[in-house]
Amino acid sequence: MVRPKVYITRKIQDEAVARLSVTCDVSMWNEENIPVPREVLAENIREMDGLLCLLTDTIDEAILTNATKLKVISNYAVGTNNIDTAAATKRGIIVTNTPDVLTEATADLTFALLMVTARRIVESSDHLRKGEWKTWSPLLLTGMDVYGSTMGIIGLGRIGGALAKRAAGFGMKILYHNRSRKTEAERNLGITYVELETLLKESDFVCIMTPYTPETHNLIGAAELSLMKPTAVLINTARGGIVNEEALYHALKNRTIWAAGLDVFEKEPISASHKLLELPNVVMLPHIGSASINTRNKMAEIAVENMSRVLANQPPLYQVN
Ligand code: GLV
Ligand code: GLV
Repeated sequence: MVRPKVYITRKIQDEAVARLSVTCDVSMWNEENIPVPREVLAENIREMDGLLCLLTDTIDEAILTNATKLKVISNYAVGTNNIDTAAATKRGIIVTNTPDVLTEATADLTFALLMVTARRIVESSDHLRKGEWKTWSPLLLTGMDVYGSTMGIIGLGRIGGALAKRAAGFGMKILYHNRSRKTEAERNLGITYVELETLLKESDFVCIMTPYTPETHNLIGAAELSLMKPTAVLINTARGGIVNEEALYHALKNRTIWAAGLDVFEKEPISASHKLLELPNVVMLPHIGSASINTRNKMAEIAVENMSRVLANQPPLYQVN
């Protein structure tokens, strides 16, 4: 029997590669911190039955033109905005992702970023490390209350729901906006559906938890930011393109909102000279939402399982298209 050929676009966990190698001939871009160059991917994909890729790989029409044998694209992520899913579907290629296993880790990171931003924890730590701490002082590094405040969740998927549970533990009033109302979640989580405008006006913490699609591109721009309270904090752990960074820069600089916590950016990676880094009232992280050791191991397992199932003519665990 001919073994299917699979290409992995980055060095992933040895266990995952070993499992895939039982049934497939595996080639891999064997680098941890350098994405596969486009021309290397375009060349390798010609022979492949399966592609296991990351959110850093743009799988578009130009790449798929070469993918004449490809049956499956297994994305090592829940978000699949890096893949032209319509183009894949047109070619009969199954696209899969890794939801569920990263829900709690991503909700944890989102809440952590919220707390760090609200209580100025990075700034405080820097203050101490720079030797600027002179004395306890009534107004030194004072921030915003988390307990008892209002959270607004934009996008009530799995991660949004997991975030709501954390917010409930902190006595927060929880508003949400979603394309469709989720009445069962409203009952179970004690959350209230509101229009986006109301959410922006009333929330102390606006948390973006929606997938990145053409409809959510720049969903939060100057007009939306201007509705937020001057004491409000914006948290984005979803995708950078959902927020207009130029508009956010001005809102933060002019203090029309109080602060932002960002794990994602319009163009990643950002450089150390990124404009937002000039501002003290923004906490920025290098897209680590799902980055716990256990979660990343599970994501690799699911990505491999999705791939193996499709190549064995079985339905994958999670199919996107
Ligand atoms: C991470 O951002 C993911 O989509 O899994
Ligand atoms: C999105 O897919 C989510 O899990 O919230």
